[in-house]
Amino acid sequence: MWGIKMGKWMTACLLAALSSGVFAGSSERAVEIVKERCHLCHGIDGEASSAIYPRLAGQNAKYIAKQLSDFKSGKRKGTMNDMAADLTDEEMAVLGEYFASKPVKAHRVRKKDFAAVGYYLYHNGNKYSGVAACKSCHGEKGFGTEQLPRLAGQHKRYIVDQLQAFNGGSRTNDHAIMHSIASKLTELEMNALAQYISGMN
Ligand code: HEC
Ligand code: HEC
Repeated sequence: MWGIKMGKWMTACLLAALSSGVFAGSSERAVEIVKERCHLCHGIDGEASSAIYPRLAGQNAKYIAKQLSDFKSGKRKGTMNDMAADLTDEEMAVLGEYFASKPVKAHRVRKKDFAAVGYYLYHNGNKYSGVAACKSCHGEKGFGTEQLPRLAGQHKRYIVDQLQAFNGGSRTNDHAIMHSIASKLTELEMNALAQYISGMN
């Protein structure tokens, strides 16, 4: 009798230990990968080391996992293809959660009048050229959603680079919407938007 009760109790403890172990194991795995292969460009906390690399801190977890999977399959092309080549689905998911949980810092906006042009476009679009307001998808505060990227606080340079890549067609994964938007933006508008977005928080 006692033996059976003890057995059940031990099974329960073992299960609890196992499940917490698995959980700790997956976030430890993310830290391990970041230290080994990501931090040189994206920083340990997703605070990119240079403005040409996107900030990942606070980026939405599922969006990160999806981009990694697109880099792995070659649907999105660039520097990242090799980095994502041998990541498993599980690793992409934990990497997404890891970076999503990191604190976000906004940039200080120096050109306030220029950023005001970006503010206008972000919230109203440009009805003369047929550009939709960015806030209608990326959100009033630029936080995005589970599937849509957070823009708030991103580096100016990366934002302009991506808008140009959407426009020129070199960003090829699920780019239909952003291609049609970016193709209607002037260079001044792209830079003003980037100026404003980098300071959002
Ligand atoms: C040699 C520098 C470098 C390293 C190392 C690197 N990345 Fe990147 N990463 C980039 C660049 C550059 C881009 C922008 C992609 C582009 O423009 O093609 C990027 C883009 C990304 C994106 C897409 C972000 C977005 O907003 O769409 C994710 C996610 C990402 N990297 C995750 C990782 C992870 C996870 C690792 C480690 C396994 C890693 N990167 C290692 C340079 C690097
Ligand atoms: C109708 C919805 C929609 C609107 C409006 C929209 N976007 Fe997007 N945007 C998207 C989607 C969807 C993606 C992600 C594509 C993917 O999954 O790779 C995206 C991606 C981006 C990215 C790449 C982010 C990254 O981390 O790599 C930038 C930059 C961007 N949008 C800027 C803008 C700006 C600026 C505007 C306004 C002029 C705008 N978007 C309006 C849907 C939209």
